[in-house]
Amino acid sequence: MNYAIILASGAGERTGLNVPKQFVLIENKSVLERSIEAFENHSCIDKIILVINPLFTDLVHEILAKNKYSKINKILTGGKTRQISSYIGVNAVEEQDAKVLIHDAARPFVSAKIINDCLKALDKNNAVNVAIETSDTIIEVNENNIIKKVSDRKRLRRCQTPQCFDINLIKKAHELAKKDGIDNITDDCGLILKYNLSDIYVVEGSVDNIKITYPIDLEIAKLILKKESN
Ligand code: CTP
Ligand code: MG
Repeated sequence: MNYAIILASGAGERTGLNVPKQFVLIENKSVLERSIEAFENHSCIDKIILVINPLFTDLVHEILAKNKYSKINKILTGGKTRQISSYIGVNAVEEQDAKVLIHDAARPFVSAKIINDCLKALDKNNAVNVAIETSDTIIEVNENNIIKKVSDRKRLRRCQTPQCFDINLIKKAHELAKKDGIDNITDDCGLILKYNLSDIYVVEGSVDNIKITYPIDLEIAKLILKKESN
């Protein structure tokens, strides 16, 4: 079985609105609905686990009642960091040999192609990430803002989601982090790397698969929609 775990428990502080960004409408449909629909409408996804912000359960239930999705399997409330929310989602999968695609609710434009490519890559890999090339050079600085490292841009990628795993592998990574008292790793592949549990294969993402983060991203989202409908 293939599970999508949609992480929608954030507060969206950087967008600075009075409602978390997953509830913002982009042309009549919320970011959350668009993210759910990407997986709901994909024939290879069996179940969807939603991890939601406990302050907005009523709003989520309104959205679900309106849409009558058929794959929603569980609705759980998340934790204070993304890592904890992901832990909660991952641990809700009871099946032993499941595959999970962990997705940011804040990425409403994940395509069927990306989901296909992830599932295909999961046939041969236990861990899969989605990433694109970087147009900017990326530098690493120390705490005094002095450049410590400039990597060859050809080898650098910007990570997106879904990040996809054999369920037992990602459960193990989360358990190890929990035991170590770590709760602030920003993505699931980061946990696999931290404990050196597996190679992670990277599939090609898309410039459209943006994460709504800042107010400008909502404007960009409208343009992406416009482009898609042309
Ligand atoms: N997320 C979550 N639980 C958290 C924090 C984040 O489920 N405690 C989810 C968000 O809802 C989002 C995804 O993880 O879909 C990526 O996180 P991010 O872009 O950082 O979203 P927010 O944390 O909501 O935004 P901000 O950091 O600006 O507050
Ligand atoms: Mg955040």
